Amino acid sequence: MPIGITALGTYVPTRVLTNKDLEGMFDTSDEWIVSRTGIRERRLAGEEEFASDMGVRAVNDLVARYPGALEGVDLVLCATSSPDAFFPSTAAIVAGQVGLNGAGALDVSVACTGFVYALSVAQGMLMGGTATKVLVLGAEVLSKIVDWTDRSTCILFGDGAGAAIVEEVPEGYGFQSFVLGADSAGGSSLYKFAIADRIPGVPVGTGNAMLGMNGREVFKFAVRVLTDSGQKAMHKAGLKGSDIDWMVPHQANIRIIESACGRFGVPIDKTVVNLDRFGNTSSASVPLALREALDDGRIQDGDQLLLVAFGGGLSWGASAMKW
Ligand code: ACO
Repeated sequence: MPIGITALGTYVPTRVLTNKDLEGMFDTSDEWIVSRTGIRERRLAGEEEFASDMGVRAVNDLVARYPGALEGVDLVLCATSSPDAFFPSTAAIVAGQVGLNGAGALDVSVACTGFVYALSVAQGMLMGGTATKVLVLGAEVLSKIVDWTDRSTCILFGDGAGAAIVEEVPEGYGFQSFVLGADSAGGSSLYKFAIADRIPGVPVGTGNAMLGMNGREVFKFAVRVLTDSGQKAMHKAGLKGSDIDWMVPHQANIRIIESACGRFGVPIDKTVVNLDRFGNTSSASVPLALREALDDGRIQDGDQLLLVAFGGGLSWGASAMKW
């Protein structure tokens, strides 16, 4: 039974924070940020806006585009690394606010790789018969967990959400392969403490409650795993680089995306990039990029897509799919 995405909605907050704005906050420059990352501006949630609010608004967008799409949803998955609470899950909070009380609900915690992981969990739940229609969210407010005095991390991130309906699709469409992985040896390169002030590889008593990152290590890791996981996902689906109509990568850094493109044999002009306007929105970045390329007509019915993502864990995930 082929499974795929049948509806997609997104949301970004209205507040824009440009690189020029950051120049007024600490010692940095638009030129430094653009040349190292490709990011020009990002969107920030309001003080009282949290991941569930981002998610609810993305669902509202989905319903406006596809009326009736929530009917029959019996499972809600929310990929997030900036949840409202440990519990209730952000998925349960969103479900309650969009009229899906009673559906199963759980969060998927794989940092920026979360949306690709959650799509594969949805596929498994559908194929196993546990669910018949799944709402998959990627909803984030990373602006609330970054240290706004750490210029090497806070420049990267923005807020937003995506919401997708995952269900059975006609033969010839949908997911063709998934590749998932994680390597805890790199966990100390990208982390956010919760209860235990203890992560293997991070000196005890580091005391930073906000997101911690070793940018150079994450960069090297990202280039390697984007390429490896994307190639494995293509191989599993019997595809090669020239078969891909559009690559939709996690939007972390244009230099990471460009070097992965070179290794894949997928040209950059066949790759969806919107990080210049939204920065790294973590688990929301793949659905935001996908929606944009659907709206402007780049992605057409029947196109061969390759989704690739990486993030904290360190983790990676890729999927070949026919749109
Ligand atoms: N403005 C100006 N100078 C800066 C800034 C800034 N915003 N940030 C750092 N610098 C300085 C550093 O202090 C350093 O100065 P020094 O040489 O005097 O010490 C110099 O610039 C170079 O710093 P590096 O960290 O080596 O710069 P690099 O070229 O590695 O770029 C960056 C840093 C952009 C963070 C890059 O390493 C990167 O993008 N890494 C990947 C990070 C990433 O994608 N994280 C998200 C993962 S997804 C998830 O799950 C959350």
